[in-house]
Amino acid sequence: MARRIVLTSGKGGVGKTTVCAALGLALAAKRRKTLLVDADFGLNNLDVALGLETRVVYDINDAVQGRCGLADALLRDDRHPSLWLLPSVRTDGERLTRSALASVLARVDDDFDFVLIDCPAGIDEGFHRAVSVADEALVVTTPHPAAIRDADKVLTLLGTYPLHAVGVIVNRVRGDLVVDKRCLSAQEIAAVLGHPAMAYVPEDDTVTICAATGGELPRSPAARALGMLADNLTDGGRKLYDCTYDYRGLWGRLKLYLRRQV
Ligand SMILES: Nc1ncnc2c1ncn2[C@@H]1O[C@H](COP(=O)(O)OP(=O)(O)OP(=O)(O)O)[C@@H](O)[C@H]1O
Ligand SMILES: [Mg+2]
Repeated sequence: MARRIVLTSGKGGVGKTTVCAALGLALAAKRRKTLLVDADFGLNNLDVALGLETRVVYDINDAVQGRCGLADALLRDDRHPSLWLLPSVRTDGERLTRSALASVLARVDDDFDFVLIDCPAGIDEGFHRAVSVADEALVVTTPHPAAIRDADKVLTLLGTYPLHAVGVIVNRVRGDLVVDKRCLSAQEIAAVLGHPAMAYVPEDDTVTICAATGGELPRSPAARALGMLADNLTDGGRKLYDCTYDYRGLWGRLKLYLRRQV
């Protein structure tokens, strides 16, 4: 039986899809059979984040409507045989009900270790549909006050669902601003939200570069932070990336000084 984890946020653009794709790749690299479900039926782009968009032939709605078998809609990632994608609805998304999504996932549950569900932004039906089929949730926020407030609202809503675990991911943390005390630290944000922190992910240009190509994150600070998240999920630990590490010590202070000059 797969662990079904929804990645949600409230506020849009905080990194749900990015984290979902990178976490899926990290879990697959650890040989955990992982299915990524694109439940953002409005502005889906998980296929693009994975660089699989040109291979999509059928989507989840085709499988629900019987235009193809479920196996035809599942797309295997050539780079990692343990990673699969169930692409989002291309048309008629709003007509796909919670129970239809639940019955699709029930059919694949035994075939995977993890099912990661990429949720749309906001708290309307798309949010509830995605959360209703999950057992666990990861709430993604950035240090931006609006994102933190929306994450807090989402955490309150998640409290109405029978989830086994709810964790927080603080994404796009600027270690230099934290050291300068111009921004809340990831630890402070997690404490404000009052739920266990599962990952602190630094702001990292490599993410932007990879987003443009749909490529896999190479060795980079964000990749390390998301690798720790995969470890935490598989071994139950709580390793958290130190986003201020690069700005400590003599060289760190020099780097900080140079950053302040630009
Ligand atoms: N750690 C990071 N460092 C730098 N850029 C990042 C990081 N995480 C995400 N981004 C960038 O932020 C942008 C938004 O990311 P993404 O699409 O994953 O957000 P989202 O929450 O899924 O958005 P939506 O709510 O629209 O679905 C993308 O351009 C992505 O490359
Ligand atoms: Mg998204």
